Amino acid sequence: MTEPNRPPLRLGVNIDHVATIRNARGGAHPDPVKAALMAEAAGADGITAHLREDRRHISDDDIGRLMAELSKPLNFEMAATAEMQAIALKHQPHAVCIVPEKREERTTEGGLEVAGDDNRLAEFIAPLREAGCRISMFIEADPGQIEASAKIGAPVVELHTGTYCEAVIAGDQAKVLDELRKLREGARYAWELGLEPHAGHGLTFDSVEAVAAIPELVELNIGHFLIGDAIFTGLKDAITQMRSRMDGARGEIGDPVGGVA
Ligand code: PXP
Repeated sequence: MTEPNRPPLRLGVNIDHVATIRNARGGAHPDPVKAALMAEAAGADGITAHLREDRRHISDDDIGRLMAELSKPLNFEMAATAEMQAIALKHQPHAVCIVPEKREERTTEGGLEVAGDDNRLAEFIAPLREAGCRISMFIEADPGQIEASAKIGAPVVELHTGTYCEAVIAGDQAKVLDELRKLREGARYAWELGLEPHAGHGLTFDSVEAVAAIPELVELNIGHFLIGDAIFTGLKDAITQMRSRMDGARGEIGDPVGGVA
């Protein structure tokens, strides 16, 4: 098999936690849509928002306003429920990322179980695909989950980087290397199966470069760290710094093979 083209790595900025701060007081400030427009201006290639079943951050109204006001693609993260499917069909965002969701969790823990639920998920994503949404499955970098995602016809997989990022924070170098190996092999396998590999969850300035250097990856989705860092430096600066780290790591891969996808 030939080597992958080295596509430019897209940055999807997740604005959920602007809404978390807004909702702490129940008003309209800070507005996640305003943050999304600033993120676009600062170099984000797309905006990601997760409408959780408990509406703890992003609201239904936010999704409508994002659809109306964004000029870059919206990646709509949602659980595989009938309610969320209806909302996605109403808005028809560019991308729909299917994530596992538990009410009691603080954030999305672990990847989606696609292999054990493939028939239901194939049926679930079919109308969304027909509506033109690009479907992504948020999974662990596990060969069985990658194969199952390809089997049900999802064109994209987003590999969960959470365990790798926790190992970086803990300074557990052996685990960092092991998790990076899984991410590299997973991205490679997804690409070999004709899927578009993305990655995300928990990425920071300290953990992004090794992931950005994985040549098959096409997009990273980053939220909590960027919104948190924006408190100190502003959103524009946080995004610019993240972009430059991603681009720097990408530049170290070597020359593109056969052009840009
Ligand atoms: N990708 C997916 C599928 C997610 O669910 C999340 C969190 O909502 C992210 C990326 C972004 O993670 P973080 O906010 O930790 O950067």
